[in-house]
Amino acid sequence: MSGNPTSREQSFLVTGGVRLAGEISVTGAKNSVLKLMAVALMAEGRTTLTNCPNISDVPAMADVLRHLGCTVEISGDTVVIDTPAEVGHVADDKAAQRLRASVCILGPLVGRQHRAVLAMPGGDAIGSRPLDMHQRGLTTLGATTRMDHGRLVAEARDLRGARYALTFPSVGATETFVTAAVLAKGTSVLENAAREPEIVDICDLLSQMGAVISGAGSSTITIEGVDQLRPVSHRVIGDRIVAATWAMGAAMTRGDVTVTGIDPMFIHVVLEKLHAVGAVVDTGTDWIRVAQTERPRASNIRTLPFPGFPTDLQPMAIAMASVSDGLSVVTENIFESRFRFVEEMVRMGADAETDGHHAKIRGKERLDSATVWASDIRAGAGLVLAGMCADRVTEVCQIFHIDRGYPHFVENIRSLGGVIERVDT
Ligand code: UD1
Repeated sequence: MSGNPTSREQSFLVTGGVRLAGEISVTGAKNSVLKLMAVALMAEGRTTLTNCPNISDVPAMADVLRHLGCTVEISGDTVVIDTPAEVGHVADDKAAQRLRASVCILGPLVGRQHRAVLAMPGGDAIGSRPLDMHQRGLTTLGATTRMDHGRLVAEARDLRGARYALTFPSVGATETFVTAAVLAKGTSVLENAAREPEIVDICDLLSQMGAVISGAGSSTITIEGVDQLRPVSHRVIGDRIVAATWAMGAAMTRGDVTVTGIDPMFIHVVLEKLHAVGAVVDTGTDWIRVAQTERPRASNIRTLPFPGFPTDLQPMAIAMASVSDGLSVVTENIFESRFRFVEEMVRMGADAETDGHHAKIRGKERLDSATVWASDIRAGAGLVLAGMCADRVTEVCQIFHIDRGYPHFVENIRSLGGVIERVDT
């Protein structure tokens, strides 16, 4: 795995007026693999993860683990993490701040080491992203948490099973609580838990390692504490956001794309929306096909926790609405800053405006090519899809964001007939 060492000075040049067509496969989910790598901290020995995506966040997470004493080998789609009997508890500031997902070492470290020190993580500029629910989960289990010079410090003499109800089904706070509770004494119950497929994947790995967890994928997760975990091999689930990106690209470009390596139930609501805008949608056990002949119809989309429409696909929803027939309203309920994307779409001639949590978009036949800036992973992908519906060549800048989450992005788009080039700027 190369890890795509892209510079901040690279852009994509995207040619408009193409139709995406063909078959493409997705690899493991970014939002799963990074957490699974952190879970490997909890068991001494070699944990092997397969179907890992070739994205720059994976080597970044490997660096976080190496600084804690693990040996990490990345080869093809396989990541092997060798965890020593004693791991460190202080995350390297620079390594941790390189990726938002480094927060997922918090639960595993507090669970196994009873302490963790973590610089407040970086990542996407999509909202304030506080850690209060992570902290409250840990304190419910008996830890103390405090901020010390920009670092979160969590410590516990003993972790005791407890009942905790999240005020919002946060993905990260669910993971922190579950991973810490796995090695606590007694029974823990998490109410209003996130139900994302990646949570189920993490609980599957933990269960294979010897944890006793029930209810993953529902709103109530129950964890019986165990003394220790053992390392195992595990295949990462397919990336539903990447799969849905290609599906939405097919609908926007009036194309015909089959995506393999994905459970259609992971993106059921997205496929329902695509059907509603006029696409023909077929599915099998691990594939989806989306074909669109007419201009998509306008539709209203509200982002919600799983199984609702994912916030990570909100930029693609806005991009699609920009070329749809009629007025669409897209409502963002998860991350307040995500509408920065709309400003970039306006540069491309989109008839769009925001009002609080709502974006109103009146679709056009064709967008104007322009120079635009990706502010996060998904906004970047949304701009590339928009570029395919523009009149000439669109330059998408700050593409290091896209490389954090989309493996083989250029190769994949080209394999579907898209015209895209990576250039130094
Ligand atoms: C994860 C995903 C991200 C996705 C998001 C929602 C990873 C690496 N990232 O992010 O791609 O967009 O889920 O599906 O898996 N919140 C608090 N306090 C907390 C924690 C969260 O207020 O302690 C808020 C956040 O600011 C946000 C909402 O809860 O408004 C949801 O965040 P959360 O589900 O935790 O997202 P992440 O786990 O950060």
